[in-house]
Amino acid sequence: MALFSWSDDYSVKVPSIDAQHHRLVDMLNELHDGMVAGKAAEHVASVLDGLIAYTAQHFSYEEELFAKYAYPESAEHIAEHQKLVEQVVAFKTKLLAKEATITMELVKFLKNWLIGHILGSDKKYSALLVEQRVE
Ligand SMILES: [Fe+2]
Ligand SMILES: [Fe+2]
Repeated sequence: MALFSWSDDYSVKVPSIDAQHHRLVDMLNELHDGMVAGKAAEHVASVLDGLIAYTAQHFSYEEELFAKYAYPESAEHIAEHQKLVEQVVAFKTKLLAKEATITMELVKFLKNWLIGHILGSDKKYSALLVEQRVE
């Protein structure tokens, strides 16, 4: 059973960004399902790596649009992205040092972060990008 599913309530009305968010939801579900199914730690870690890489790509995509359209709340938004990246990098360091394992707690943290960020921060740029006809 999936951890959570995509909902139209998450839409920021920009199709390319919705598609990226949707993919992030799918990747988090894959991470969750791998854990529940008791897949090997290496497998779960590699799914997490894929999720981290795709998240970085997604953040860059949003941040390039902020620069292009002079989004006024860009600085705070980028700081939120940056903070998550730092938290995940710190976790990865512990994981590599075998001081941490991927747990359901981590998966739930990522899920709550993603939903909170989409609903709280990503939605704030929606009107500007829609007005600029970003697809
Ligand atoms: Fe964002
Ligand atoms: Fe986003």
